This record gives sequence, structure tokens and C-alpha cells, in this order.
Amino acid sequence: MAKLSIQNLSKNFGKVEILRNIDLEIEDNEFVVFVGPSGCGKSTLLRLIAGLEDSSSGDILINDEIVTDLPPSKRGIAMVFQSYALYPHMTAYENMAFGLKIAKNSKQDIEEKVKKAAAILQLEQLLERKPKELSGGQRQRVAIGRAIVRNPQVFLFDEPLSNLDASLRIQMRMEIAKLKETLQTTMIYVTHDQTEAMTLADKIVVLRQGVIEQIGSPLHLYHHPRNLFVAGFIGSPSMNFIKSKITDLQNDHVEVEFVKMGKVKIPLKCPENGWDVKVKDSVTLGVRPEHFILTETGPFKGKIVLIERLGSETYLYVDIKTQGPILIRTEGNQVFKVGQTLHFDIHKPECHIFDENELSFERLPLKQKIKKA
Ligand SMILES: Nc1ncnc2c1ncn2[C@@H]1O[C@H](COP(=O)(O)OP(=O)(O)OP(=O)(O)O)[C@@H](O)[C@H]1O
Ligand SMILES: [Mg+2]
Repeated sequence: MAKLSIQNLSKNFGKVEILRNIDLEIEDNEFVVFVGPSGCGKSTLLRLIAGLEDSSSGDILINDEIVTDLPPSKRGIAMVFQSYALYPHMTAYENMAFGLKIAKNSKQDIEEKVKKAAAILQLEQLLERKPKELSGGQRQRVAIGRAIVRNPQVFLFDEPLSNLDASLRIQMRMEIAKLKETLQTTMIYVTHDQTEAMTLADKIVVLRQGVIEQIGSPLHLYHHPRNLFVAGFIGSPSMNFIKSKITDLQNDHVEVEFVKMGKVKIPLKCPENGWDVKVKDSVTLGVRPEHFILTETGPFKGKIVLIERLGSETYLYVDIKTQGPILIRTEGNQVFKVGQTLHFDIHKPECHIFDENELSFERLPLKQKIKKA
């Protein structure tokens, strides 16, 4: 049982600010995923939570108790590193037992805990092997086992699957999803993998340059990104951004014109205090690759410049003249040719408009209240 509260947490390395005013509430049993570009501070935030790094200011609370100055061993937290960090000369069993031995647990107690963790992770047959005799996925499971035996209040995972090949990743992703159900513990997970983030998370925290850009459930972030950065970061392949100009503002829609090709009315409710943009303002229209509709005659058209066939779906890169190509996702069973003119429309209710400050017209708050299922 552990809830976590991070309050106004900042971290500098020398003069460089790495994390700025991080405010984050994590509920008991919640699975929270940190995402963001390389170097944005994800690992640093995990290390601060684990106590492996000191904060420059702010507080970390576990179950309403300030732990900011407690050493890692007193926080009830276990961390699984990307590199596994197993002892090469010890067997899987010994690796998992090591921390308990140091903490002077009885032999019987250790055996019980290791066997239980081994059963959860299906490692029973492999306990006598040394790390070099194990596959990447098996080593990763031993590293997770080593965390489980400590019975932590909070699990921290720093890109645990990034060293594995594609099929092992999928298998391990399922293992972690199962673990989440079995252990019923609070988990914080860092990943670069969109699928892992979308499928595992109760709540995703998007970071950029040490600042939280948005917090919400995976689908909330997908449907309601509060700014251009989150819109481009969540979803794969990324949202298309099309430079446009406002041509009309009404109570229930905004009309924009893009690339001199035509106008499109996006249904958006006018805020209570009225629109704070005006006709002729430059905006960015955001359309996900899956929200184009192929048509016979228009209203828009472009030339196909590149085709990527993935089998179940096909990605078309379409030149719309005044901008770089846009990416359109279609079903895999249709035939297309490079050079062909493609007519299309866009699914307007799914479109986003961002103002010159890159904020969504929806004016969304930083945090979404997440209801637990
Ligand atoms: N000990 C340190 N001293 C100085 N700068 C550091 C130190 N550790 C990390 N940094 C810097 O802090 C920033 C954040 O690093 P961090 O490892 O948290 O990024 P990350 O989001 O985990 O990136 P990645 O996705 O590549 O793992 C980087 O610019 C990094 O160079
Ligand atoms: Mg990292």
C-alpha cells in the first residue's frame, strides 16, 4: 500500500536545471508511466524517488510521510534498471536472495520469498543458472525477481525492456501487465515505447526538458493533448501538423484554411470568455494519420511520394505542395502507386488546432483527474 506525492521537486546538477517544480500525485496501486525525449529527466526523477539522488528543493512523500531525506533502504522502494545489473558470479537464486541475506533474513524466510517470486516469474527451473546461461528476457525476470522479494511499497522500472528483441519485448510486456495484477503495488515505469506506455499505464506523465507537460490516462492524452508537444509525442506514427490560418470563428466551430488548398470547419466549442484568437491568426492544424478519409474527388488532394506497406496497414506519404509530406494511414489491402494523385478529406471531430503558443484550443488543464476502474 503506497501512495506517492511529489511536491515542487527540482533538481540541479551544478548550474544546470534538470527538473523544475515537479508536482505529481500517484495513487496506491497505480501504474504510472513516464515518457519524454531522451535527456528530459525521466531517470533522474526515478532516482530522486528511489533516494539514489538528492533533490535541490521540494519534497517526496510516501503515504503522507516526508521521505526526501531518507536513505534508499528506508523508503520501501525497489528499482529495476535497464542494464539488469545482476552479479555475474551468482546464480539466479543467489542474485535474488542477496539483498535479503544482507538484510539478515533467515535462510528459511529467504527461500520462501525467492521461491514465491520465482513462481510468479516462471523462473523455478532456472534458479541454479548463472546470468550468462540465461537469455535476455530471463535475466530481466531475475532482475525483477530481485525487486519482488524485497516486497517493496513502490516499484520503479527504468526502461526494463529496451535491451530485448521485439518478440521478447512483447512477451515481457505481457509479464509486466500480469505482474501489475498479481502484485497490486504502486509502479512507476519509464519507457520510450509507445505501445508499452499506452497499454500498461493507468496514467502517463509526459516530460519535456525537466518540466511536466501533461498528466492523464493514455486515451485522454491521445484524444486531448493540451499542446503541440504532447500531440506530437503521444501516438505512433505521429500527428501531422499543417500550418493554417483562421478564416472564421463561430460559437461551435473554427474554420481554418490550409496550404491554400481549401477550408475546413473544425467543431470546437467557443470558450465562455470568447475566442482569444482572431481571424487571420496563424494556427497549426493537427491531424493524426488515422483520421484522413480517402475520397473520389476531394476536397483535398496531393501526390503520393512514398509508400510503406506493413501488411495490415499502409502508410502513404502525400505531398500537399506547400508543406512537407503528410502521413496518411490506410488499410493494407488497397493498391496505391507512387506519383498517384490522392483525394482525401479529414475527419473533423478528431482534429486539433494549436495557437501560436502551441497550446490546444481546447484549453486543457495540466492534470486530468483519473477515475480508478
Ligand atoms: N550526474 C549527472 N551530472 C550532470 N548531469 C547529469 C547527471 N545525470 C544526468 N544528467 C543530465 O540530466 C539530464 C536528464 O538526464 P536523465 O538521465 O534523467 O534523462 P532521461 O530522460 O532518463 O533520458 P534517456 O531517455 O536518454 O534515458 C540530461 O541532460 C543528463 O545529461
Ligand atoms: Mg533514462
